[in-house]
Amino acid sequence: MCGIVGYLGFKPACQVVLSGLKSLEYRGYDSAGLSIQNGSKIQTVKKKGSVSVLEKALNEAQKNNATLYEGNFGIGHTRWATHGVPNDTNSHPHTSQNNLITLVHNGVIENYESLKKRLVEKGYLFQSDTDTEVLANLVDFYISHHDLGFLEAVQKALQNVVGAYALLALSPRFPEQMVLARLSSPLVVGIGKGEFYIASDATPFLQYTRRVIYLEDHNIALLEPEKPIIIRSIADNSELPYKVEELDWDLGAAEKDGYESFMLKEIFAQPQAISDAMRGRVSSDFHINMKSIQDHRSIFEDARRIIIVACGTSWHAGLIGEYMIEEFARIPVETEYASEFRYRDPILFPNDIVIAVSQSGETADTLAAVRLAKSKKAFVYGICNVVGSSLARESDTGCYTHAGPEIGVASTKAFTTQLTVFFILALEVASIKGSPALKIKNELIEQIIKLPNKVQRLLKTCEPEVIKVAKTFHQATNFLYLGRGYNFPLALEGALKLKEISYIHAEGYPAAEMKHGPIALIDENMPVMVVISRKNSEKINSNIQEILSRKGKVIVISTQSVDHVPEGVVAHIQIPNTIEPLVPILASIPMQLLSYHVASLRGLNVDRPRNLAKSVTVE
Ligand code: M6R
Repeated sequence: MCGIVGYLGFKPACQVVLSGLKSLEYRGYDSAGLSIQNGSKIQTVKKKGSVSVLEKALNEAQKNNATLYEGNFGIGHTRWATHGVPNDTNSHPHTSQNNLITLVHNGVIENYESLKKRLVEKGYLFQSDTDTEVLANLVDFYISHHDLGFLEAVQKALQNVVGAYALLALSPRFPEQMVLARLSSPLVVGIGKGEFYIASDATPFLQYTRRVIYLEDHNIALLEPEKPIIIRSIADNSELPYKVEELDWDLGAAEKDGYESFMLKEIFAQPQAISDAMRGRVSSDFHINMKSIQDHRSIFEDARRIIIVACGTSWHAGLIGEYMIEEFARIPVETEYASEFRYRDPILFPNDIVIAVSQSGETADTLAAVRLAKSKKAFVYGICNVVGSSLARESDTGCYTHAGPEIGVASTKAFTTQLTVFFILALEVASIKGSPALKIKNELIEQIIKLPNKVQRLLKTCEPEVIKVAKTFHQATNFLYLGRGYNFPLALEGALKLKEISYIHAEGYPAAEMKHGPIALIDENMPVMVVISRKNSEKINSNIQEILSRKGKVIVISTQSVDHVPEGVVAHIQIPNTIEPLVPILASIPMQLLSYHVASLRGLNVDRPRNLAKSVTVE
């Protein structure tokens, strides 16, 4: 949550920081602000609302005084509020009482109340309700009362902090320095020629440089013009080595390319994304090659159980992955919410493998679950999309989904590529285990190879029917999603997708569970989306009859092979035939489009749903 960005070099920092904030806005859009330093002068502007509100305020100010916000050092922040409502005062950057520190922060200072109390006793006054202002004043305290240098003061303050942070700080007392630090929130430094770019992820500065250093947890860094970066341990001040990595990201992927929203672009990017997720891993002669698994063959051979940890949509993908691995590899799999797993002292056996799934690779709960699993000596396999993310770096091994940047808050291509990877992984583990499922391996592989074309075809054909459904139901207040087998986790995902961007209350259930409670909700105002694939189609048709006889409005998504759908359903969207484990990939397409069109008809911003942010780096 929250995006932070910084620049130190010779360019006008204001433009670099402002454009960086625009690329990071998916991380939070409650407020935005920036500070520009010119020698010992620091000017700050911050506004409730989106970056465009900030930009307007800047333009207005600069109209009256063109020299405002001039300088080559700058920091900026786009906020997803945790402590304190979104308003101008609670926006970042925050400046300390004696103006010795101005900083931006992503994360949560958990012990801010006790720190604040101590600072109040020493005479500090606070303007905002944020934990970040406490941190700023704590650094100020170490400079003003202990006469520490910039890096040392930030270091000392952080030694007293419990929580998570990525922070960037400026000080008028140290006009040639910028200090940054990280614990559990991402921070990456782009290395230019005589300049540094800093951001929560690399997208803001890809246009300037692709050479990056990922700051590690517990590290603090000092940047000065024309000098190499210095990275130290927060705990003991030892100087640490670092690695400069070269990114090969596609810059265009972070643009809308003529689509009305990132979400729509990302829905339509799925044929390519799924192909990319398979590239090098599935060959046309029916071979699977997952190097990350082959390199640890003996660990997978010996594995007696797999535990999948994830949050949100990634958790839904994990649940479908569980079904795939159990079906193909015949190993028991449990899928857990990372947020629950991390706090319940789970039992891990020596031969367990933990698979952590995350689009961003920065979700706080998922990372905490990974750390817990590692502390219990489990082998951790990470599945994530963002290259170089914390999950990628902290897992023992893993693979990327290669979906390309996903900017829309609602996960779409991240989900279908996670499922693609799970399918391939399940087959690879099955082959290591010598599972009987391999008798039909070629048939299974053939089906995944055909998938991108089927998704492409479906995207071309299903939208008119989906739009009709959206027009009929966009004012509904509730929705039910039902499915059996592989389509049950998909029902959960369909419901999540609808509620997060359209704010319609929606629930997903296993179809057979309906009669154990949710059936009480069914009346003529209740739309029910039911996914039918060949397996169990008769049983699910009986569930549909139960809904119809209570006047519920049924919308069916079915594979073409389903030859009978009860009369009386309001809409029937057909998807191409495929094997059961791959139905969720195809059926998720009309579900994503439905959420998109319902939200659009309700006049909502699909890329930036209220109260949400793309990556949840706080617990
Ligand atoms: O980056 P992650 O996959 O770890 O994110 C997990 C969830 O926050 C995420 O899937 C969230 O549920 C999405 N907004 C759903 O569309």
